[in-house]
Amino acid sequence: MKQVNLDWGKLGFNYIKTDFRYVSYWKDGKWDGGKLVEDNMITISEGSPAIHYGQQCFEGLKAYRTKDGKIQLFRPDQNAKRMNNSARRLLMPEIPEEKFIDACIQVVKANEHFVPPYGTGATFYLRPYLIGVGDNLGVKPAKEYLFSVFGCPVGPYFKGGLSPVNFMVSDYDRAAPHGTGAAKVGGNYAGSLLPHEIALQRGFADCIYLDPATHTKIEEVGAANFFGITKDNKFVTPKSPSILPSITKYSLMYVAEHYLGMQVEERDVYIDNLDEFVEAGACGTAAVITPIGGIEYKGKLHVFYSQTEVGPITRKLYDTLVGIQFGDIKAPEGWIVEVK
Ligand code: PLP
Ligand code: COI
Repeated sequence: MKQVNLDWGKLGFNYIKTDFRYVSYWKDGKWDGGKLVEDNMITISEGSPAIHYGQQCFEGLKAYRTKDGKIQLFRPDQNAKRMNNSARRLLMPEIPEEKFIDACIQVVKANEHFVPPYGTGATFYLRPYLIGVGDNLGVKPAKEYLFSVFGCPVGPYFKGGLSPVNFMVSDYDRAAPHGTGAAKVGGNYAGSLLPHEIALQRGFADCIYLDPATHTKIEEVGAANFFGITKDNKFVTPKSPSILPSITKYSLMYVAEHYLGMQVEERDVYIDNLDEFVEAGACGTAAVITPIGGIEYKGKLHVFYSQTEVGPITRKLYDTLVGIQFGDIKAPEGWIVEVK
């Protein structure tokens, strides 16, 4: 196997050009067979609807190196399904689930030397995306599409990994009540750049977004979902049609119930009722589990477990989830796809 010289333990969440990416085009109502290419540049029409009207969606999932040197994907079928939900919302063609998973596997195999060694904490992040391309001017769906998958070795998304970080409640909304909040489309992220920047300038890791209709309930923690642990040991996470259905969140709900014997509730989480939680965290593919030290709201910082230490339940959830992802703990049926 080829060698790459990277300090695996020190990686952040940054673009690193790897050797191969997968590309496939949709034209005349069908997908081509798809192939791996070395060029990381794409050439598309200046009229492409992806550029002007944001007709695009993307996904994020990871490949994990196990103790015995194998490589595995975590629930790629769920990412395929979510990508197709996003595609339907923006009138883009769906990608057959097998094609999506096969593309991810091809990219991991072709870049195997970029998959970080077990024990470094680093992983290989896959970024599938689907964009509307081709000559166009008016606001209408593209006639041609590009589906591509590339990957980069990554470390923690929020600095510090399992150390608590603080978030501030933003006055901005990331999504509208009947908008595209539940789809993984670039427009949601474009709108989040300014509030994110304000949060960084004020010394916070990111923003908490409240529900756009009433501004009373927690929706998202930047590019991650929220969970809290109540005094009576329940795992609670917001339910809303305008948040991104996080695969990590649904996996944690399962882990909390079936591995840790906790009660699980997906329901409204009121920003005025943070006292009900003894611990809180942000969860997502990139964020994994990031403990929330405190949340600033209306000028006050509400501290959960601690500003410096991860709470015991959050740690247990983290150890179990990450243990499953790296193959140290037996996974529920169907969660792991080995890259062979
Ligand atoms: N919420 C947003 C806005 C995200 O971008 C992500 C990342 O994908 C998540 C939540 C977490 O979702 P997942 O656990 O599927 O990565
Ligand atoms: C992910 O967790 O996969 C994300 O998409 C978060 C962010 C990098 C957009």
